[in-house]
Amino acid sequence: MSICLERRYRFSASHLYRRPEWDEEANRRAFGKCANLPGHGHNYRLFVTVTGEVDPLTGFLVDLAELDRVVDREVVQALDHQHLNSAVEEFRDDKSRSGKMKIPSSENLVAWIRDRLEAALPPGVVLVKVRLEEDEDLAAEWNDR
Ligand code: NI
Repeated sequence: MSICLERRYRFSASHLYRRPEWDEEANRRAFGKCANLPGHGHNYRLFVTVTGEVDPLTGFLVDLAELDRVVDREVVQALDHQHLNSAVEEFRDDKSRSGKMKIPSSENLVAWIRDRLEAALPPGVVLVKVRLEEDEDLAAEWNDR
């Protein structure tokens, strides 16, 4: 039997879908309105699911305050009220990254968040799922299956 714990967080951020090495028409074709300058914002909801041994004395599998501190430091402080295309290095459009710049889609952002959290969680706490909802109708999810 395995028990998971899911916690929800929120942040707001803006983004722009545009490949600098493509012309206007190619950007329009791939990204539609998401290529409109200067960008647009979302109120993201982030669901972080972890597993681990349930401590028989506390009944908890993670120190919730510590989980909150990690997610706040690694994700919320890094992204909240930021423009993702400049706040996150791999989404940045600078000449040295031309052709390698990643689009700040929910798919790419959830992968970035997953990597940050995996590296920072306390020992014994295992990340099993990260779900990023950018609005009511669209979510990207990483899970360890
Ligand atoms: Ni968007």
